[in-house]
Amino acid sequence: KSEDKQNRAAASLIVVSNRLPFVLKREEDGTLTRKASAGGLVTAVAPVVVDNHGIWVGWTGLDDFDEETEVIPESSPDDKAPTAGLRPDQAIPLSVNPKLFDEYYNGCCNETYWPLFHSMPDRAVFNRDHWKAYQDVNDIFAQKTLEAVRSVHEKRMAIPDCSRPDPPIVWIHDYHLMLAANAIRDGCNDEGLQVRMGFFLHIPFPSFDIIRIFPWVDEILMGMLGCDLVGFHIGDYCLNFLDCCQRCLGCRTDKNKMFVEHCGRRVMVRALPIGIPYHKFESLSRIAPRVFPSDMKIILGVDRLDYTKGLVARLKSLERMFKKYPKWIGKAIFIQVAVPSRVDVAEYKELKETIDRLVGHINGEFSTPSWSPIRYIFGSVNQDQLVAFYRDANVGLITPLRDGMNLVAKEFVACQSESDPGVLILSPFAGAGGLMQEALQVNPYETDNVADVVDRALEMSLDERKLRMNQLKKREKRMDVDAWVRSFLSGMDSLLVPSVRPNHD
Ligand code: ADP
Ligand code: G6P
Repeated sequence: KSEDKQNRAAASLIVVSNRLPFVLKREEDGTLTRKASAGGLVTAVAPVVVDNHGIWVGWTGLDDFDEETEVIPESSPDDKAPTAGLRPDQAIPLSVNPKLFDEYYNGCCNETYWPLFHSMPDRAVFNRDHWKAYQDVNDIFAQKTLEAVRSVHEKRMAIPDCSRPDPPIVWIHDYHLMLAANAIRDGCNDEGLQVRMGFFLHIPFPSFDIIRIFPWVDEILMGMLGCDLVGFHIGDYCLNFLDCCQRCLGCRTDKNKMFVEHCGRRVMVRALPIGIPYHKFESLSRIAPRVFPSDMKIILGVDRLDYTKGLVARLKSLERMFKKYPKWIGKAIFIQVAVPSRVDVAEYKELKETIDRLVGHINGEFSTPSWSPIRYIFGSVNQDQLVAFYRDANVGLITPLRDGMNLVAKEFVACQSESDPGVLILSPFAGAGGLMQEALQVNPYETDNVADVVDRALEMSLDERKLRMNQLKKREKRMDVDAWVRSFLSGMDSLLVPSVRPNHD
């Protein structure tokens, strides 16, 4: 049994992402404590690292983190959070000079890539210093990852040949680290360390016409091609990537077999639609206490406070809905939970102010002494509350202007009861939009359309609600986060079969 455990440890999966699944907070007495972080990447990847006994290399959320400082475990951890079960030694925190980190994270990642990759180029800033910082920080991540690869190899070599596990897998995540792969690969080659490398992008990959606005796009593509497998949420993003590799770098690509040839290597490109820990959400929703009065219809939004989520347009649509369908005054409320995000970036600060004003304006317009149309929670809610919100809502209103996948839509579905489910309204501009076909589709840019569809959802018969929701539930149950990891790992395993590794067709 202990040998088995040892083998598993040596076979470790090394996950590399900008953010660790928790942020560190410095208390008044100088000690550091952990707090769970929000966002789709952490929600999906944390259970993977826990279940596979992996290691996670990433940033602590603290500007001046010193790698020698001891971190005190949370005094009352949320035992249902995605990070529950993650041992302290599974997280490898790294520190970066605060100014450099600011230029890389707030500058290049959040002011350039985030808007550009969400096809909003007018919001994107292009700055050479930020690009330089991006290169430098990617290199710091690569060096830290190499240390992790070395330590895994040391454990691996201590195991007898016959039971030695396959070479470790380095799995790099998201737009923060598109340049890290080649430095890791070179380092491993220099030291004779075998490794398999994968990359997954959690946001959309845009079309050639958008991506070519970025002045250093070739470097980005070559960076991603440093991996053996590059994964995206949906087929459209894969095709965009193949197209860009061909048109920017002149690579030979195959859109049927889904690969790119680059520098004598073949890189697999795969659509790996991410899922959620479905069973966890479903079982938590069965026991969570009720949160809303049963005589009020609830329309729910849950998002990071981000301009890609379409919150301003959503509020305007709700305003339109109450104007056009006054029968809902006093009978329905819209609850928006918005978790603060990237608060150092100007666009996000402005968005918060716009939303504060709009909520005040709409509540002022429609409120009665005993009812207000909008309840706005600016903050994150714990897992028990979140599942209760999902379960007790009649309508999940998920209307991003652009979104890689959108896990909230999936979590909402998992928490619905089979006997009296709510209705999911979804934008086609989320990756989930094309996959969750039984949802009611809306165009978030068309206020009247959203207002009409919300009314339709609130009026929908029980039979239609059941028919739609039960199909949605079936699919999410099948395509959960475990299925996502299994398809990634099986892609990685196929690298071990020599026939898929030729340099030429
Ligand atoms: P993104 O990755 O862009 O933030 P997703 O919808 O894919 O969008 O994932 C968001 C994740 O963060 C979900 O798992 C969701 O439960 C969580 N989340 C979002 N907003 C909140 C909130 N206000 N409170 C708690 N969790 C939240
Ligand atoms: C999205 C990105 C993640 C990111 C998350 C939260 O899900 O794909 O990489 O971690 O947003 O954003 P933040 O900037 O706070 O890490």
